[in-house]
Amino acid sequence: LCTNSPVFLGSCQRLASKCLHTTVSFLKKTGTEHWWLERHLKDPFVKATKQQHYRCRSAFKLLEIDDKLHILRPGLSVLDCGAAPGAWSQVAVERVNALGTDPAVPTGFVLGVDLLRISPLEGAVFLPEADIADPGTQRTIQNLLPAGKVDVILSDMAPNATGIKELDHQKLINLCLGLLNLSQIILKPKGTMLCKFWDGRESHLLQSRLKEQFQDVRTIKPQASRKDSAESYYLARLYKRK
Ligand SMILES: C[S@@+](CC[C@H](N)C(=O)[O-])C[C@H]1O[C@@H](n2cnc3c(N)ncnc32)[C@H](O)[C@@H]1O
Repeated sequence: LCTNSPVFLGSCQRLASKCLHTTVSFLKKTGTEHWWLERHLKDPFVKATKQQHYRCRSAFKLLEIDDKLHILRPGLSVLDCGAAPGAWSQVAVERVNALGTDPAVPTGFVLGVDLLRISPLEGAVFLPEADIADPGTQRTIQNLLPAGKVDVILSDMAPNATGIKELDHQKLINLCLGLLNLSQIILKPKGTMLCKFWDGRESHLLQSRLKEQFQDVRTIKPQASRKDSAESYYLARLYKRK
């Protein structure tokens, strides 16, 4: 084949463009990975997670919220929705004295539910591989809670993200609205609900539903929640229903 022929030159061009494409995607990928790794290594909450033996850094979101707003105290019963790998449950076990380690204060109760498996945690009861939206799961939750009732509902649930912001936002809002329906059955009067949402068009809908059922509703963005994330929390206190 003549090196000047259009056939040869065309093949070279196609090959070069293919190589360039592969190189650019490789550089893009390694660039993102490098940025992620650097952010991860510099993150003070990642260091603190290791030092304080929490299962993941999200523990610090709940610790911060509870330090400021005191939603957990010894003797309370807690339902932790989307509990895996178990960091929020670790915090809840400590703060409600679920292990009974402090005999001077009442002993609390922690029930964690997740679609995934969760390694056992002393002081917590886990319901793994269970969908909170499933009526069967909701019946089991009622059976496991002391007298079928709970003081605090925590939700750090996050559905598998599709990457389509509006769709992911809506999926999480629907999960929270479903949980709000469950709260009407299991939450004690004056109870608390803390739920994560990804901000978007329908956040106000969830907020107004919470305001119908709770006396005090506020929006919280803890320091440990990354600034570039759409994640925030609604903290709803003083449940109005009997
Ligand atoms: C961000 S993680 C929770 C981290 C947890 N708070 C901790 O501190 O370890 C979100 C979890 O929500 C769970 N999840 C999502 N949808 C759920 C559903 N319908 N029922 C139960 N769990 C769900 C996911 O499986 C995932 O483990």
